[in-house]
Amino acid sequence: MAGNRYQWFLILLLSSLCSANDGLFGSKFQTDIPEYDLLHAIGVPFSNPKTQYFDEGLDGFPAYGLMPGSDIKSPYRLFMPEKLYAEYSITATVRPANKDGGFLFSVVNPLETVVQLGVQLIPSGPGLTNISLLYTDANIYALSQTIASFVVPSFAKKWSRFALRVTTENVTLFLNCHEFDTVVVKRNPMELVFDSASTLYVGQAGPLIRGAFHNAF
Ligand SMILES: *[C@@H]1O[C@H](CO)[C@@H](O)[C@H](O)[C@H]1NC(C)=O
Ligand SMILES: *[C@@H]1O[C@H](CO)[C@@H](O)[C@H](O)[C@H]1NC(C)=O
Repeated sequence: MAGNRYQWFLILLLSSLCSANDGLFGSKFQTDIPEYDLLHAIGVPFSNPKTQYFDEGLDGFPAYGLMPGSDIKSPYRLFMPEKLYAEYSITATVRPANKDGGFLFSVVNPLETVVQLGVQLIPSGPGLTNISLLYTDANIYALSQTIASFVVPSFAKKWSRFALRVTTENVTLFLNCHEFDTVVVKRNPMELVFDSASTLYVGQAGPLIRGAFHNAF
């Protein structure tokens, strides 16, 4: 069981992961940027102590651990804005327990068939991991769309921080506070309005999409 778990201590939207000097937000850095800590969806005390636990994170900070079978979900509006701004960042500090990958989080439509927003780790050849950003207007697409992906050295079993900075034109990956790569992305729509009955999942993308993901390998 222990082979397939994630450990996190932070996943934030619109936050400053690295210090402003690291250039994550450059001159646009503002301290009044709204932040949404998706880990609040985990909740303490744990709803299922068999699959959720505390661990030691980076620099000795407490971390959340999730085991297989953990089922963290919530109406998305409790922890996310009603719609996604045109520019934002998603940051994560994570230690995957293995190379199998999976969703760090997702916002899925009410039918649970489309990931409207999500970050997925996918094994990508020996020693490599694909970090993918999913962004889908469920009114237009029946399948989840990956709008940006980056292949990085695998960080299984190692604490790593990464950030995806989404601007009107680009998506940039910062890995352990270093700018890794930028891809040009045409998004439609620019500001994603989530279906009001959407679900936020942490550590998965719901039973349907999760199954499809496993079947693909
Ligand atoms: C990463 O995975 C996604 C989803 O499977 C795929 O669409 C994309 O091409 C991959 N990216 C790279 C750079 O291999
Ligand atoms: C997108 O990336 C290009 C090339 O790195 C850069 O010149 C441009 O300023 C970027 N645009 C935005 C909106 O960040």
